[in-house]
Amino acid sequence: MLEKRNILLGVTGSIAAYRAVDLVRRLIDEGAGVRVVMTESACRFVTPYLFETISGNPVGTDLFADPFTHITLAKESHLFVIAPATANTINKISCGIADNLLSTLWLAYEGPALIAPAMNSRMYRHPTVQKNIVAMEKAGVTFVGPETGSLACGEEGEGRMADIPDIVDAALTTLASRDLADQNILITAGPTRESIDPVRFISNRSSGKMGYSLARAACRRGARVTLISGPSALRPPAGVTFVPVTTAMEMQKAVQRCLNRSTAVVMAAAVSDYAPAETAQVKLKKKDATSIKLKKTPDILKGIGRSRGKRVLVGFAAESGRGLASAKQKLKEKNCDLIVLNDISREGAGFDVDTNQVTMIDRGGRVTDYPLMQKADVADIILDRINEMKRKGK
Ligand code: CTP
Repeated sequence: MLEKRNILLGVTGSIAAYRAVDLVRRLIDEGAGVRVVMTESACRFVTPYLFETISGNPVGTDLFADPFTHITLAKESHLFVIAPATANTINKISCGIADNLLSTLWLAYEGPALIAPAMNSRMYRHPTVQKNIVAMEKAGVTFVGPETGSLACGEEGEGRMADIPDIVDAALTTLASRDLADQNILITAGPTRESIDPVRFISNRSSGKMGYSLARAACRRGARVTLISGPSALRPPAGVTFVPVTTAMEMQKAVQRCLNRSTAVVMAAAVSDYAPAETAQVKLKKKDATSIKLKKTPDILKGIGRSRGKRVLVGFAAESGRGLASAKQKLKEKNCDLIVLNDISREGAGFDVDTNQVTMIDRGGRVTDYPLMQKADVADIILDRINEMKRKGK
């Protein structure tokens, strides 16, 4: 997603400097070219050689090593990230002091910027630091973190540099096109859980990865996102309105509550089709649980399909085998605009993996096969299709 993007990473003198090594790796994984610039204090924590090895590029430390680096690097970069950013660097760059390569680059740079502060919590709360952060935010700089937790000094508090995935996510968001800025997207994800008794339940293998990837991508592209999720081990993406639910009934109620304000709905949840007719209030003894009477759960998507209005409606079809006919039938029966068919019996597709291999079928009968790809990329394609339908006023 960061293909052909040059990221300038400023590393300053915090113990969190060692975590910036992983940040470089993750940004490169996303396709970015990374140039690292370090302050003198940063070099006391981590050597430039390490960043040079990881980034595959020379590391800048000395303003006077080359007369024009501070101009050329600033012009070539699409995003300036400072992680970790100390109080000292934040205070200096906010008022335009240019006394080393990093702070001089900051003055010469004109594009989007992202700062991940890292410092002791009392330093972070200091009025000068807070005033400068607010001023920089007003000027359009994005701050990610800091997190609350145990700090290097042994104290607990706000000041830990944000988690690396959150910084990468913020970088992706900053550089993404905001083509869904006028959309309000409701996404369901994960399995539902239908209780048999206080310890047992009926559920399925869904991890929520597809729905959470959709929520993350939609958010990044500027949409307001509501994510209604059954039980999942995943962390909800930053910026979404998160509604945790357990059962199909709870998911249906949550969907009904949030439907009005949505312009598009994506039902990525693997809703359990059946629930026990009765839930025992105490744990069943094994001799009493030889058979379970089931009742059908509501078909949430079908319900939305009946009163969908102008909103774009996307469903999934989980099939063992190609299942094209079944997916087409679901599209029609549930009154969807698009069905995303995934053959869960294929290697690397379906439940609890990072990849998926899908076929999309739209109302007009267009069938498009996609190769095996990351769920994050599948998410973007689904969102492209929603956008296309919205623009055509389908
Ligand atoms: N769905 C739903 N409510 C249900 C069951 C499914 O809203 N009670 C939605 C899913 O979120 C998905 C679509 O309907 O978007 C198709 O789900 P799928 O499990 O593939 O099909 P089912 O309709 O459950 O039919 P079957 O299990 O017989 O294939």
